[in-house]
Amino acid sequence: MKKLLFLVSLLLLTGGVRAQSRGENYDESKVPVYTLPDPLICENGQRVTSVRQWETTRRPELLNMFSSQMYGITPKEDIPVEYQIVSEKKNAFQGKASCKQIRFCFKKNGKEIEAMLILYTPNAIKGKVPVFLSYNFMGNQSIDADEDILVSPGLKFVKSPDDKSMERGYQQSRWPIEMILDAGFGLATMCYHDIYPDDNALKDKSVLALFDDYEQTNGRPDAWQALGGWAWGLSRIMDCLEKDDRVNEKQVVVMGHSRQGKATLWSGAQDKRFAIVISNNSGCGGAALSKRRYGETFRIMTNSFPHWLCKTAEQYADNEDMLPFDQHELIALIAPRPVYIASAQEDRWADPKGEFLSGVHAASVYELYGLKGLGVTEMPAVNQPIMNNIGYHIRPGKHDVMDIDWQNYIRFAQKHLAELN
Ligand code: GCU
Repeated sequence: MKKLLFLVSLLLLTGGVRAQSRGENYDESKVPVYTLPDPLICENGQRVTSVRQWETTRRPELLNMFSSQMYGITPKEDIPVEYQIVSEKKNAFQGKASCKQIRFCFKKNGKEIEAMLILYTPNAIKGKVPVFLSYNFMGNQSIDADEDILVSPGLKFVKSPDDKSMERGYQQSRWPIEMILDAGFGLATMCYHDIYPDDNALKDKSVLALFDDYEQTNGRPDAWQALGGWAWGLSRIMDCLEKDDRVNEKQVVVMGHSRQGKATLWSGAQDKRFAIVISNNSGCGGAALSKRRYGETFRIMTNSFPHWLCKTAEQYADNEDMLPFDQHELIALIAPRPVYIASAQEDRWADPKGEFLSGVHAASVYELYGLKGLGVTEMPAVNQPIMNNIGYHIRPGKHDVMDIDWQNYIRFAQKHLAELN
C-alpha cells in the first residue's frame, strides 16, 4: 500500500498523471472511424456542380454553419474607428524599411478601445507592395528590440509590466522582419490582446463590448466570442491597409499562428479581400479535423478556453460525430484563393496529420474552380513543401513560428501573387 501511495505521488509530482489527465489521444490506431461531410453536398442533399451554385448556395450554408455552431455570428454593424499615425520613420533596419505606427481608436456607445498597428514597408521598392498581416501574441514591442516601438495597449489587461514576456524583442525569433523586407514584402502586425484580451473574464474590455446588441446577445448560444472577435479585427486592419499608399491591398497575405491560426482561417473564410491565407500550427478549431480527436479535442479546448468558441460548440465535446461539418470545409471556404497549412513534427497537440487531411479534403472545391488542390493524399516528408493552390508543409521541431516557415510562406506568396497578376 505504501509503495502504491509512493508511486501515485511520484507520478503526480513528475506530471506523469497530469500529462494524460486531459485525455488526449496520440495513438493513430485509436483514431475513431469517422465520416467527413462532403463540402459539395448541400443541406438538401443536392450536389454542387458549378461555381455559381457553390457561391450562391453551398458557401453561404457553410458560413452559416461555422457561425452558428462554432465561432459565433459576426455582427454586421459598423464600429466607427479613428486612425492616427503616431510615428513614422524612414530608416528602420539601417534604412531598409519605413515604419509607421498607427493607433486605432474604436468608439461606440460611450466606450473606446485602443489598438496599435505597426507597418513596415521595404524602401528598396517604390510604390505599393504585397504585405503579410499577422497578429502577435506578446505585443508589438516583442517583435524587435527597437526602442521606438510602442508597447501594445491591450497588454495592460493581461500582463504585469515586469512580466518577462513584455521585454523588447522577446519573440523576435518568430519575426524575421528583414527577411520579409528583403523578399519585397511589407509586414503589418498588431497584438491580439488589443482586440480581445485573451482571458475568459475580459470580454467587457474587448471590441465585442462596443456592439449595440452586446448585452442582449451575451448569453446567446450562437453569440461570437474571442476567435470571432480576432477574426473581425483582422478585417478592420485590412480596412486600414486599404487606405495606405504603400500597401497593395489586392496582395495582403494573412498569416496566423496557433490560436491565431484558427482566427486567421475564420477571417480568411469570411473576408474575400485577403489574397492568401496561411495557418501555422493552428490545430483544433483551426486546420485540424475535429472528428479525428487526436491531440487537443473540442472538449479540452472548450474547457480550457470557454471564451473562444460560441456556446453551441460545447455540445460537440466528446460528440464530434454529430458535427455537421469539419475543418476541411473551413479551408474550402477560402477557395479559390490560395491557402497554406503548416504543421510541426513535434506539435502532436495540433494533430499534424489532421491539419494535412483538411487540406486534402478541401480539394474538390478548388477543383470546381479548375484549380489544383493539394495534389497528394499522402503526407509529405518533413521539409518537402507542397505549393499548389492548397499548400502544406511539415517541418521538424516544436509548436512555433520559425524562419523555415516564413521562407515557405514567402515562396508560396511569391508564386501565387505572380499568377494573380
Ligand atoms: C493551447 C491551446 C491551442 C492553441 C495554443 C496556442 O495549446 O490548447 O488550441 O492553439 O494554445 O495558441 O498557442
